[in-house]
Amino acid sequence: MPQNRRPLIAGNWKMNGLKADGQALAKALGEQMRAESDPVFDMLVCPPFTLIANVGETIDGSGIALGAQDCHPADKGAHTADISAAMLRDLGCQFVIVGHSERRTDHGEMDQEVKAKAEAAQASDLTAIICIGETEHQRDDGKTFDVVKTQLTGSLPNSSDSSNTVIAYEPVWAIGTGRTPSNDEVQEVHALIRDGLSQALGDDQAAAVRVLYGGSMKPENARELIALPDVDGGLIGGASLKAEDFWAIAESCT
Ligand code: PGA
Repeated sequence: MPQNRRPLIAGNWKMNGLKADGQALAKALGEQMRAESDPVFDMLVCPPFTLIANVGETIDGSGIALGAQDCHPADKGAHTADISAAMLRDLGCQFVIVGHSERRTDHGEMDQEVKAKAEAAQASDLTAIICIGETEHQRDDGKTFDVVKTQLTGSLPNSSDSSNTVIAYEPVWAIGTGRTPSNDEVQEVHALIRDGLSQALGDDQAAAVRVLYGGSMKPENARELIALPDVDGGLIGGASLKAEDFWAIAESCT
Protein backbone atom coordinates (compact mmCIF):
# COMPACT_ATOMS: atom_id res chain seq x y z
CA MET A 1 0.00 0.00 0.00
CA PRO A 2 2.32 2.76 -1.17
CA GLN A 3 1.61 6.43 -0.56
CA ASN A 4 0.51 7.25 -4.10
CA ARG A 5 -2.44 4.85 -4.08
CA ARG A 6 -5.18 5.65 -1.62
CA PRO A 7 -6.63 2.46 -0.17
CA LEU A 8 -10.20 1.59 -1.15
CA ILE A 9 -12.32 -0.35 1.32
CA ALA A 10 -15.26 -1.70 -0.65
CA GLY A 11 -18.23 -3.58 0.75
CA ASN A 12 -19.99 -6.09 -1.48
CA TRP A 13 -23.29 -6.73 0.27
CA LYS A 14 -24.28 -9.38 -2.31
CA MET A 15 -27.94 -10.51 -2.06
CA ASN A 16 -28.33 -9.45 1.55
CA GLY A 17 -30.51 -7.00 3.39
CA LEU A 18 -34.05 -5.72 3.43
CA LYS A 19 -34.71 -1.99 3.62
CA ALA A 20 -34.33 -1.70 7.38
CA ASP A 21 -31.06 -3.68 7.43
CA GLY A 22 -29.52 -1.66 4.64
CA GLN A 23 -30.55 1.58 6.19
CA ALA A 24 -29.19 0.64 9.63
CA LEU A 25 -25.86 -0.45 8.16
CA ALA A 26 -25.55 2.63 5.97
CA LYS A 27 -26.51 4.93 8.86
CA ALA A 28 -23.90 3.40 11.18
CA LEU A 29 -21.15 3.66 8.57
CA GLY A 30 -22.20 7.17 7.59
CA GLU A 31 -21.98 8.32 11.21
CA GLN A 32 -18.52 6.80 11.62
CA MET A 33 -17.29 8.37 8.42
CA ARG A 34 -18.69 11.80 9.25
CA ALA A 35 -16.88 11.65 12.59
CA GLU A 36 -13.56 10.88 10.89
CA SER A 37 -11.80 14.19 10.30
CA ASP A 38 -9.22 13.07 7.77
CA PRO A 39 -9.75 9.47 6.59
CA VAL A 40 -6.71 7.91 4.93
CA PHE A 41 -8.93 5.52 2.95
CA ASP A 42 -11.83 5.69 0.51
CA MET A 43 -14.91 3.76 1.56
CA LEU A 44 -17.46 2.27 -0.82
CA VAL A 45 -20.64 0.27 -0.28
CA CYS A 46 -22.26 -1.82 -3.01
CA PRO A 47 -25.77 -2.78 -1.87
CA PRO A 48 -28.18 -4.92 -3.89
CA PHE A 49 -30.05 -2.96 -6.59
CA THR A 50 -33.18 -2.72 -4.43
CA LEU A 51 -31.34 -0.76 -1.72
CA ILE A 52 -29.14 1.54 -3.79
CA ALA A 53 -31.47 4.55 -3.77
CA ASN A 54 -32.21 4.27 -0.08
CA VAL A 55 -28.61 3.69 0.97
CA GLY A 56 -27.53 6.53 -1.30
CA GLU A 57 -29.80 8.94 0.58
CA THR A 58 -28.57 7.67 3.94
CA ILE A 59 -24.85 8.09 3.18
CA ASP A 60 -25.28 11.29 1.19
CA GLY A 61 -22.63 13.83 2.23
CA SER A 62 -20.74 11.35 4.43
CA GLY A 63 -17.92 10.81 1.95
CA ILE A 64 -18.80 7.13 1.49
CA ALA A 65 -19.12 6.23 -2.18
CA LEU A 66 -22.01 4.27 -3.64
CA GLY A 67 -21.71 1.35 -6.03
CA ALA A 68 -23.59 -1.56 -7.57
CA GLN A 69 -22.73 -5.22 -8.04
CA ASP A 70 -23.31 -5.61 -11.77
CA CYS A 71 -24.50 -3.79 -14.88
CA HIS A 72 -25.63 -4.73 -18.39
CA PRO A 73 -23.29 -3.97 -21.31
CA ALA A 74 -26.02 -2.08 -23.20
CA ASP A 75 -27.13 1.42 -22.33
CA LYS A 76 -30.85 0.63 -22.57
CA GLY A 77 -33.31 -1.55 -24.44
CA ALA A 78 -35.16 -4.84 -24.34
CA HIS A 79 -33.27 -6.63 -21.56
CA THR A 80 -35.87 -7.65 -19.01
CA ALA A 81 -34.70 -7.35 -15.40
CA ASP A 82 -31.29 -5.97 -16.33
CA ILE A 83 -29.88 -2.65 -15.14
CA SER A 84 -27.64 -0.39 -17.21
CA ALA A 85 -24.61 1.58 -16.11
CA ALA A 86 -26.39 4.80 -17.04
CA MET A 87 -29.22 3.89 -14.64
CA LEU A 88 -26.70 3.30 -11.86
CA ARG A 89 -25.01 6.60 -12.55
CA ASP A 90 -28.42 8.25 -12.47
CA LEU A 91 -28.95 6.83 -8.95
CA GLY A 92 -25.70 8.35 -7.74
CA CYS A 93 -23.41 5.35 -8.13
CA GLN A 94 -19.73 5.99 -8.79
CA PHE A 95 -18.60 2.37 -8.95
CA VAL A 96 -19.85 -0.96 -10.23
CA ILE A 97 -18.43 -4.43 -9.62
CA VAL A 98 -18.17 -6.53 -12.79
CA GLY A 99 -17.14 -10.14 -13.30
CA HIS A 100 -17.49 -11.26 -9.71
CA SER A 101 -16.86 -15.00 -9.54
CA GLU A 102 -20.44 -15.54 -8.37
CA ARG A 103 -21.63 -13.88 -11.59
CA ARG A 104 -19.15 -15.91 -13.62
CA THR A 105 -20.39 -19.13 -11.95
CA ASP A 106 -24.13 -18.45 -11.49
CA HIS A 107 -24.64 -16.67 -14.81
CA GLY A 108 -21.90 -18.11 -16.98
CA GLU A 109 -20.22 -14.74 -17.52
CA MET A 110 -17.01 -14.95 -19.51
CA ASP A 111 -14.19 -12.46 -19.88
CA GLN A 112 -15.58 -10.93 -23.06
CA GLU A 113 -18.88 -10.07 -21.40
CA VAL A 114 -17.11 -8.78 -18.31
CA LYS A 115 -15.04 -6.52 -20.55
CA ALA A 116 -18.17 -5.23 -22.28
CA LYS A 117 -19.74 -4.47 -18.91
CA ALA A 118 -16.61 -2.67 -17.73
CA GLU A 119 -16.58 -0.65 -20.95
CA ALA A 120 -20.22 0.32 -20.46
CA ALA A 121 -19.47 1.33 -16.88
CA GLN A 122 -16.55 3.51 -17.93
CA ALA A 123 -18.61 5.09 -20.70
CA SER A 124 -21.19 6.09 -18.08
CA ASP A 125 -18.56 7.67 -15.85
CA LEU A 126 -18.49 4.80 -13.40
CA THR A 127 -15.35 3.14 -12.10
CA ALA A 128 -15.43 -0.55 -12.96
CA ILE A 129 -14.19 -2.93 -10.27
CA ILE A 130 -13.10 -5.88 -12.40
CA CYS A 131 -12.92 -9.14 -10.43
CA ILE A 132 -10.54 -11.95 -11.33
CA GLY A 133 -9.26 -15.00 -9.50
CA GLU A 134 -8.56 -18.71 -9.72
CA THR A 135 -10.57 -21.66 -8.40
CA GLU A 136 -9.08 -24.08 -5.92
CA HIS A 137 -8.68 -26.66 -8.65
CA GLN A 138 -6.75 -24.22 -10.83
CA ARG A 139 -4.49 -23.29 -7.91
CA ASP A 140 -3.81 -26.95 -7.11
CA ASP A 141 -2.92 -27.50 -10.76
CA GLY A 142 -0.39 -24.64 -10.64
CA LYS A 143 -2.46 -22.54 -13.05
CA THR A 144 -3.09 -19.48 -10.86
CA PHE A 145 -0.78 -17.15 -12.80
CA ASP A 146 -2.13 -18.26 -16.18
CA VAL A 147 -5.75 -17.93 -15.13
CA VAL A 148 -5.30 -14.52 -13.52
CA LYS A 149 -3.33 -13.15 -16.46
CA THR A 150 -5.85 -14.47 -18.99
CA GLN A 151 -8.80 -13.06 -17.06
CA LEU A 152 -7.07 -9.70 -16.67
CA THR A 153 -6.20 -9.42 -20.34
CA GLY A 154 -9.63 -10.62 -21.43
CA SER A 155 -11.67 -8.46 -19.06
CA LEU A 156 -9.80 -5.16 -19.19
CA PRO A 157 -11.16 -2.62 -21.73
CA ASN A 158 -8.74 -0.49 -23.77
CA SER A 159 -10.44 2.56 -22.29
CA SER A 160 -9.14 1.67 -18.81
CA ASP A 161 -7.05 3.98 -16.68
CA SER A 162 -6.50 4.58 -13.00
CA SER A 163 -9.50 6.90 -12.76
CA ASN A 164 -12.08 4.47 -14.13
CA THR A 165 -10.70 1.05 -13.21
CA VAL A 166 -10.03 -0.97 -10.07
CA ILE A 167 -8.97 -4.61 -10.15
CA ALA A 168 -10.07 -7.02 -7.43
CA TYR A 169 -8.08 -10.23 -7.02
CA GLU A 170 -10.42 -12.72 -5.41
CA PRO A 171 -9.31 -16.34 -5.23
CA VAL A 172 -12.63 -18.17 -5.64
CA TRP A 173 -11.73 -20.69 -2.94
CA ALA A 174 -11.19 -17.90 -0.40
CA ILE A 175 -14.60 -16.27 -0.88
CA GLY A 176 -16.83 -16.84 2.12
CA THR A 177 -14.74 -19.78 3.30
CA GLY A 178 -12.62 -18.22 6.04
CA ARG A 179 -9.51 -19.35 4.14
CA THR A 180 -7.02 -16.98 2.57
CA PRO A 181 -3.79 -17.41 0.62
CA SER A 182 -0.60 -16.62 2.53
CA ASN A 183 0.59 -13.02 2.40
CA ASP A 184 3.36 -14.04 0.02
CA GLU A 185 0.89 -15.75 -2.28
CA VAL A 186 -1.36 -12.67 -2.31
CA GLN A 187 1.56 -10.33 -3.01
CA GLU A 188 2.91 -12.47 -5.86
CA VAL A 189 -0.45 -12.48 -7.64
CA HIS A 190 -0.91 -8.74 -7.09
CA ALA A 191 2.57 -8.11 -8.50
CA LEU A 192 1.64 -10.24 -11.51
CA ILE A 193 -1.52 -8.18 -11.98
CA ARG A 194 0.50 -4.96 -11.72
CA ASP A 195 2.83 -6.30 -14.36
CA GLY A 196 -0.12 -7.19 -16.61
CA LEU A 197 -1.50 -3.68 -16.13
CA SER A 198 1.88 -2.24 -17.15
CA GLN A 199 1.80 -4.20 -20.38
CA ALA A 200 -1.79 -3.16 -21.12
CA LEU A 201 -1.83 0.44 -19.91
CA GLY A 202 1.79 1.51 -19.53
CA ASP A 203 3.85 1.84 -16.37
CA ASP A 204 2.41 5.13 -15.12
CA GLN A 205 -1.21 4.03 -15.23
CA ALA A 206 -0.33 0.60 -13.84
CA ALA A 207 1.38 2.23 -10.89
CA ALA A 208 -1.77 4.24 -10.14
CA VAL A 209 -4.51 1.60 -10.60
CA ARG A 210 -5.79 0.22 -7.30
CA VAL A 211 -5.66 -3.56 -6.95
CA LEU A 212 -7.87 -4.87 -4.14
CA TYR A 213 -7.69 -8.22 -2.41
CA GLY A 214 -10.98 -10.03 -1.74
CA GLY A 215 -11.85 -13.34 -0.08
CA SER A 216 -12.44 -13.74 3.66
CA MET A 217 -10.93 -10.39 4.55
CA LYS A 218 -11.82 -9.56 8.13
CA PRO A 219 -10.60 -7.33 10.96
CA GLU A 220 -8.13 -10.00 12.08
CA ASN A 221 -6.25 -10.28 8.76
CA ALA A 222 -6.93 -6.94 7.06
CA ARG A 223 -3.94 -5.04 8.40
CA GLU A 224 -1.31 -7.43 7.10
CA LEU A 225 -3.06 -7.90 3.75
CA ILE A 226 -3.50 -4.18 3.14
CA ALA A 227 0.11 -3.55 4.13
CA LEU A 228 1.39 -5.70 1.24
CA PRO A 229 3.14 -3.54 -1.39
CA ASP A 230 0.69 -4.20 -4.23
CA VAL A 231 -2.53 -4.50 -2.21
CA ASP A 232 -4.52 -1.27 -2.23
CA GLY A 233 -7.50 -2.18 -0.09
CA GLY A 234 -10.15 -4.85 -0.03
CA LEU A 235 -13.39 -6.05 -1.59
CA ILE A 236 -15.22 -7.39 1.41
CA GLY A 237 -18.31 -9.59 1.45
CA GLY A 238 -19.37 -11.15 4.75
CA ALA A 239 -17.52 -8.73 7.00
CA SER A 240 -19.01 -5.73 5.19
CA LEU A 241 -22.46 -6.58 6.56
CA LYS A 242 -21.48 -5.64 10.09
CA ALA A 243 -20.68 -1.96 10.51
CA GLU A 244 -18.25 -2.69 13.32
CA ASP A 245 -16.22 -5.22 11.32
CA PHE A 246 -16.24 -3.20 8.12
CA TRP A 247 -15.12 -0.12 9.99
CA ALA A 248 -12.40 -2.08 11.77
CA ILE A 249 -11.09 -3.23 8.38
CA ALA A 250 -11.01 0.37 7.16
CA GLU A 251 -9.15 1.42 10.29
CA SER A 252 -6.47 -1.15 9.45
CA CYS A 253 -5.31 1.30 6.78
CA THR A 254 -4.15 3.77 9.41
P1 PGA B 1 -16.10 -12.59 1.46
O1 PGA B 1 -16.52 -12.19 -0.02
O2 PGA B 1 -15.45 -11.40 2.08
O3 PGA B 1 -17.39 -12.97 2.14
O4 PGA B 1 -15.17 -13.76 1.34
C1 PGA B 1 -15.72 -11.35 -0.80
C2 PGA B 1 -16.35 -11.15 -2.16
O5 PGA B 1 -16.92 -12.12 -2.70
O6 PGA B 1 -16.30 -10.06 -2.75
